[in-house]
Amino acid sequence: MSDNYPSKSGRQKEHRAFFGRVSGKRLHKGQRELFDTLLPDLRIELPNKGQIDPQQIFGIGAKQNILEIGYGGGEHLTRIAIQNPENGYVGCEVFTGGIGKILKTIAAENIKNISLFTSDAFRLLSALPDASLDLVYLLYPDPWPKLRHNKRRFVSNTTLNELARVIKPGGRFRFATDIEDYANWTLAHMVRNEAFCWQTSQNPQFWHTPFEGWQSTRYESKARREGRMQSFYFTFVRCA
Ligand SMILES: C[S@@+](CC[C@H](N)C(=O)[O-])C[C@H]1O[C@@H](n2cnc3c(N)ncnc32)[C@H](O)[C@@H]1O
Repeated sequence: MSDNYPSKSGRQKEHRAFFGRVSGKRLHKGQRELFDTLLPDLRIELPNKGQIDPQQIFGIGAKQNILEIGYGGGEHLTRIAIQNPENGYVGCEVFTGGIGKILKTIAAENIKNISLFTSDAFRLLSALPDASLDLVYLLYPDPWPKLRHNKRRFVSNTTLNELARVIKPGGRFRFATDIEDYANWTLAHMVRNEAFCWQTSQNPQFWHTPFEGWQSTRYESKARREGRMQSFYFTFVRCA
């Protein structure tokens, strides 16, 4: 899938291709039903032209607008949404198995403060107004470890410029990975981006300290089972 995204000014934004997997095993019957019954109420549709109103997707009066990109099965997103009912949450995920899982949790837990975007997260970022998000999570993004595939990684100059535009001054971007090369890749991109300051201590010892209230995501648990025992947790602040 690839696209050019029109910006607010009408100029075409930098070209960006998307390479993620969208379907895998067949969904359970219950999950298939939720695609027909619950998803239409939660799904974010982008306007053909212009920008999307954050209140429409995060809820009117949400204390903070929080986005998670690539939520997988939604374990982290549903947990923080339940813990913080005063905030509004949007989850982006393209993989139907993951969307099916989060729908099941949202229905079972009767969660009211999550909306879902089921296409490339960059499309949603491009449709958001400037300074509309308080916090963005990118947890264990697809690592694309082969050198020739590195450019498929979600972190790029293009996506970071877009994140810098949509995160409020003083807002945060949180990134976690178990892949050292992706951690280095992200730091290398971040030091070139003047819009972000690095909040995580410069002492590498703290790079491995999880975010407050952290519980392993599904992918992190898989990494540990496979012997990848260390992760990197970075918090970057949108400079005022
Ligand atoms: C390695 S998994 C990690 C899932 C979850 N964050 C976790 O830690 O368990 C990465 C997820 O990001 C999703 N993804 C990749 N690129 C994406 C994009 N551009 N927009 C939305 N989701 C994306 C994939 O479908 C996949 O489910």
